[in-house]
Amino acid sequence: MKQAFNLSLEELQQRDTRYIETLFALSNGHLGVRRPALFSQLAGESNPGTFVNGFYETGPITYGEWAYGYAENHQTMIKLPNSHQLTLEIVGETSQQSDWLINQTVYELQMDQGLLAEAYDVTTQSGKQFTVEVTSFVSLVEPDVSVLNLTITPLNFSGDIRISSDFEHKVTASENNAIDPRVAKAKSQLAQVELADNWLKLTANSGQRIFMSQVLSSGAREPEVGTKNIALTVSAKAEQAVSLQHFTLISAPEEQQISRLAAIRAELDYQRLYEGQLTHYQAFWQASDIVISGNSVLQKGIRFNLFHLYQNAGRDGLTNFAAKGLTGEGYEGHYFWDTEMYMLPFFTYTQPQIAKSLLAYRCSILPQAKARAKKMAQKGALFAWRTINGEEASAYYPAGTAQLHINADIAYGFQLYEKVTGDSQFIQEKGAEVIFATARFWLSYGDWSTSSEPCFQINGVTGPDEYTALVNNNYYTNKMAQNNLYYAVELGLRYGIAEEEVANWQAAADHMKLPYDKEKELIKQDDTFFEKAPWPFAETPKENYPLLLHYHPMVIYKHQVSKQADGLLAEMLFPQDYTKEQIIRDYQFYEKVTTHDSSLSRSVFSILASRTGQTEKGYHYFMDTALMDLTDLQGNSQDGIHAANMGGSWLSLIYGFAGLSFGKQQIDFANHLPKEISELAFSLRLQGTLVKVELKAGGIQLGLLEPNERLQVVQQTADQASIIIKPSDE
Ligand code: BGC
Repeated sequence: MKQAFNLSLEELQQRDTRYIETLFALSNGHLGVRRPALFSQLAGESNPGTFVNGFYETGPITYGEWAYGYAENHQTMIKLPNSHQLTLEIVGETSQQSDWLINQTVYELQMDQGLLAEAYDVTTQSGKQFTVEVTSFVSLVEPDVSVLNLTITPLNFSGDIRISSDFEHKVTASENNAIDPRVAKAKSQLAQVELADNWLKLTANSGQRIFMSQVLSSGAREPEVGTKNIALTVSAKAEQAVSLQHFTLISAPEEQQISRLAAIRAELDYQRLYEGQLTHYQAFWQASDIVISGNSVLQKGIRFNLFHLYQNAGRDGLTNFAAKGLTGEGYEGHYFWDTEMYMLPFFTYTQPQIAKSLLAYRCSILPQAKARAKKMAQKGALFAWRTINGEEASAYYPAGTAQLHINADIAYGFQLYEKVTGDSQFIQEKGAEVIFATARFWLSYGDWSTSSEPCFQINGVTGPDEYTALVNNNYYTNKMAQNNLYYAVELGLRYGIAEEEVANWQAAADHMKLPYDKEKELIKQDDTFFEKAPWPFAETPKENYPLLLHYHPMVIYKHQVSKQADGLLAEMLFPQDYTKEQIIRDYQFYEKVTTHDSSLSRSVFSILASRTGQTEKGYHYFMDTALMDLTDLQGNSQDGIHAANMGGSWLSLIYGFAGLSFGKQQIDFANHLPKEISELAFSLRLQGTLVKVELKAGGIQLGLLEPNERLQVVQQTADQASIIIKPSDE
């Protein structure tokens, strides 16, 4: 059983240091730590770091040619030093000498408990033999603390063991000259550093400051504390294990925080934090695990994805979920639409508290979104395409700011949250304002066409497909904006918005242009997608993918080619609005023109394939999403996990294989299990109640694990079942 929750080095083909650092990175949504093994044996350079969600450096973006309204400042998540880089001294011999014989016997991510385990057999140059066991974790009990526990057992000697750690040599910025836009810019990542009394103080241009401190402990022994380092010596006896703990504390320097940190520091107790970690993870898996029978590789893959989703989500209402979580510097630590459209459903359905915090972050940046809309000469609010502090940070507007769909994606996130949890209070108090402000933006940015047929259009935008930019009436954008407007109408009526404004939202939504080619009987990705020349796929060598690294944007944009699911994503989200035949036709066409150069693509193809009876295809796309980082499918996992894809793998199972679709007051499930999976079992929290879903060949079963009079399970056929939600006033 435990096996299925452990990910060990031996199971991985790729073993480059940076890649393993990403996979084995630990986080609690506030702090993230990536580091090499204590005695690393892997090839390649290390790129260690500690990240604090929301702690970023900023400075002006330099444009060769400026235009009004361009994003002004970059925001780059700051890489703090690897806090757990320790030096071991065994009776005067130090671990920095490369002539120790080291054999790593364990290197394993223990996902059931949120721990990283390492173990070594070591022989020093003079022949002293000992074993070391290392357990590390980033605490879910004390979010400002990360922990490393060492258990050392001398085998053939007795004597002093000294452990030391200093901050000074660790403060280095990673050098990065890559031209890949998905990788962070190198310079300016480091905040100003001051070292005093074993406190590392970092101040960024963003005005934020962070204090970092470390503590070593081993029972009653007091550590030696220098100004720039810390050390602890214990006397060890042959064949008797000694344990030492190293804690890193990180906090914002406000008076209150510092005194809180001092209190935590005085009370640091490894056992308490360790046990608390296990309790948190037990609760997590109980609510969110997915059991896939008959395929241990996929089982591991999905658990790995759920683990990273859980550990990397911001939980304080002021931070969000970066595209790479807190596992690496890719995309500079920015938050995108990835959160609402790919990660949020998993949280909404299984960890609603976290979903609420992620949405609360959007509420917290609503003022910046309103200011941005104003800057763009529009009403309402326009959320930044990529950001940490709420301001727009995308320097390339055709694939950044122009992706206005982010507004509607965020609205969709609130709407799904309300439908699934029934938490209307949060919507009334916080969410509704976001929905109204985004609806106002659509009314202001969109235009009524001047032709005889009344038609509401949204022109000059970029949809999810970043290989097609600045088009009129992107199908996905318009469909999502329409949904945003309908939700605004619903909330407007509920919360007393002026009738006229609500009527305007309704009219725009009713007349939203959704481009369709009647002859081809296909949805059109945008007004001109079908007029473009097909991309010359046959003449494109394999090594020229992803296209974005090999062709000028203009060459890509003039062709009929998609980086990722676009119109199909709309069909995935609103299954009630399309016939199966329509989806199959669209699928067949758009699959041929999609490169999947974005990791956000395959899960959507998997879901639609499953729902339309293309079970084998659904399974193959799912395999790719489930194992994307474990196989380094995109070739860049070293820069951080692909968090949206991880959320996508959950969607592929729940929306695809289990066919979940949420209609009006009813959730339907349909069994689309591929033959490679004999059983699938998971639970969801609906309207506060835990629901168990089980699928196997020829049957689907739903069961309420807690009583709820408003939920009624209806078995439609052996392979179809529904939950009907009765209105609360019935
Ligand atoms: C995708 C975007 C996504 C971003 C961050 C890009 O490659 O095209 O849709 O938001 O990555 O994950």
